[in-house]
Amino acid sequence: TDSTAGAKADHPMWSSRLAFILAASGSAVGLGNIWKFPYITGENGGGAFVLVYLLCIALIGIPIMAAEVMIGRRGGRSPINSMRQLASRDGLSKRWVWIGGMGMLASFLILSFYSVIGGWALSYVGNSAGGLFAGASADSIGAIFGNLLADPYTLLLWHSVFMVLVIMIVARGVSSGMEKAINILMPIMFGLLLVMVGYAMSTDSFGDGFKFLFSPDFSKLTTEGVLTALGHAFFTLSLGMGVMMAYGSYLPKNVSIVKTAVTVSMVDTAVALMAGLAIFPLVFANGMEAGAGPGLIFQTLPIAFGQMPGGVFFGTLFFILLVVAAVTSAISLLEPVVEWFEEQKGISRLKGALIGGISIWLLGITTILSLNVWSDVHPLAMFERFEGKTIFDLLDYVTANLMMPLGGLFIALFVGWFMSKQAAENELSIGNGVAFNLFMFVLRFITPAAVLVVFVYNLM
Ligand code: PHE
Ligand code: NA
Repeated sequence: TDSTAGAKADHPMWSSRLAFILAASGSAVGLGNIWKFPYITGENGGGAFVLVYLLCIALIGIPIMAAEVMIGRRGGRSPINSMRQLASRDGLSKRWVWIGGMGMLASFLILSFYSVIGGWALSYVGNSAGGLFAGASADSIGAIFGNLLADPYTLLLWHSVFMVLVIMIVARGVSSGMEKAINILMPIMFGLLLVMVGYAMSTDSFGDGFKFLFSPDFSKLTTEGVLTALGHAFFTLSLGMGVMMAYGSYLPKNVSIVKTAVTVSMVDTAVALMAGLAIFPLVFANGMEAGAGPGLIFQTLPIAFGQMPGGVFFGTLFFILLVVAAVTSAISLLEPVVEWFEEQKGISRLKGALIGGISIWLLGITTILSLNVWSDVHPLAMFERFEGKTIFDLLDYVTANLMMPLGGLFIALFVGWFMSKQAAENELSIGNGVAFNLFMFVLRFITPAAVLVVFVYNLM
């Protein structure tokens, strides 16, 4: 039938629904949840921002994830070639292929700074294990972080270690070993976050932290904040750039796409909210700034590890798991690039991983320098919106707030308006009744309108 025609016979499949959920969660859950979500929530005033973010996940994120997985499964190839395959099968313009192309560019840009932050986490494994945080004050923990950012060579070292790990794993091929690892480590991550939330509960600022996260004060929400929330919904779910298409191409035909998308999104959201609950009480208990920026978790969590019983053990384990979560996301950023090299250029997996990985590593050096030597370099300062933004800030902003929502907009339009409706019905297999029509309605109208409205408001 139409829906199976795209998959190549030699294209392997995930062994089960669980395997896909694990891999997709591996991509979704990462630095976005534990590093980025808390700090942008702090910068944007808390509750109202969180509410908008949750709405974006539900109304925009989940439908787009389902759409992407559907495109990937129907196309059965790397994102660019899945798009090419589907467009030609439905007699559509070749221009749709650009969605895949823009996604690959976004992967490339994101991984360049993602790896630098992954490097921070790596260096904190050593710091925790070495007992550096034991009994340390908030000030001295702040100084440890400040010293790390000020030192380009140390940053380069850890950035390199992180990229080598990612290149090695991708070069060997995403395997059942990874499924097993995620299957074991994800529950441990959950458990450890619960320990951290438990610790936060034992401080007398838990109520303040909870209120900050969940009681919305709309006077603190800016239009820029709404765009950040939208962008983060894409970033945290790995959407709008073909990653979920790439993973979807391995999804067996009998698995429910919608249920799977809901599950992955819920896992991702739970991890982010737990991270927030672990961190903000500490921020208030120690009289720190919620809007401290990208260093937030590296300046707060070590305080807790320094004080709680077994802190060296828990702290070391926590940062190891953070590295693992970051690596499983990073793999999904490099994988589409390598898949494309293989299919399109006949370049081997090893070579593709090396060429892609080394170029990304090189670009990452601009992020490292943004934190110290180039901290006053603001390349787009002539535009008011980008004033005061370093190269690192720009990479983050352009990918999460512009490229990913734009990619998502086109994906929604593609599935909602252009792709064969019959094929969508077959892929989703939720019948052609209310559920299916609701899904199509959201993709046709709600998602595009939401993205456009946020964009237009921000341009004004
Ligand atoms: N979703 C990942 C995170 O939250 C980051 C990511 C973005 C991974 C885009 C792949 C693609 O950390
Ligand atoms: Na995430």
